[in-house]
Amino acid sequence: MTIRISFDGDEVLGREGQTIAGVLLASGRRSWRTADGEERGVFCGIGVCQDCVVTVNGVGSVRACQRTACDGDAIEREVR
Ligand code: FES
Repeated sequence: MTIRISFDGDEVLGREGQTIAGVLLASGRRSWRTADGEERGVFCGIGVCQDCVVTVNGVGSVRACQRTACDGDAIEREVR
């Protein structure tokens, strides 16, 4: 089943069961966080490094590689 999430206001389509990182990677994005002026995305992919954190529905520091994307999720880039 197709799901729709948003990333910084842009609609992104994914498949039910994908992680947020999986949906963003499949959409062609390789980074979705800025830390110390550098772009970050998936590094470890197993929930350890926290390079992939995003804000999900207003909740910050969610690891995109661990959180299953849900239809209607609003994802926002984090900048530190
Ligand atoms: S990529 Fe390392 S915690 Fe998600």
